[in-house]
Amino acid sequence: MKRILMAVAAFIGVVGLNGAFAADEKMQHQNHNHDMSMHNMSMMDARTSLELSPEMKQHQLSNMREHVEAVNSIIGLMSENKFEEASKIAHSKLGLTPEMQQMCSMFNNEKFMTLGFAFHKSGDDLGDALQTKDVNVSLRALNKTMQYCVECHAIYRQ
Ligand code: HEC
Repeated sequence: MKRILMAVAAFIGVVGLNGAFAADEKMQHQNHNHDMSMHNMSMMDARTSLELSPEMKQHQLSNMREHVEAVNSIIGLMSENKFEEASKIAHSKLGLTPEMQQMCSMFNNEKFMTLGFAFHKSGDDLGDALQTKDVNVSLRALNKTMQYCVECHAIYRQ
């Protein structure tokens, strides 16, 4: 009887141990797959590089941070019914100002520039839409402008 119990205990022990090993192995496997997919993701940035100089990179990023700030301000002002101010920001920060025109002309990529100009044109349209003081009209215009943000980021990188 005692011997049978010991045999059963040993059997459970072995099965338990195997189970633990299997789980451990599975985990390592998953981690490995995880590392691989992370690795592939960074290797697979298939977006077109604009091949900017270090100086241009900083300039572009700081411009971009101003864009996201402008969108934030516009939404905040809209929520307070300050359409006039929101319109001014749309025209001056997202619209096709001489400054933005110059910035967008500095790229060595025709399609990128076309997209950039269309984006800034939509910024001016947004400014006009905000003049109506109509929330839905304004949101539709903002949505259009933000589609350019999404589209361009999906295609280009620095
Ligand atoms: C015509 C192309 C284009 C448009 C339109 C565009 N961006 Fe960008 N943006 C870029 C590129 C290129 C980068 C660099 C991305 C990279 O290298 O991964 C960038 C980077 C950024 C960054 C990162 C800034 C940082 O400091 O790291 C932010 C934020 C950003 N964009 C916001 C916006 C917002 C908000 C809009 C729309 C209102 C917008 N962008 C429209 C091309 C564009």
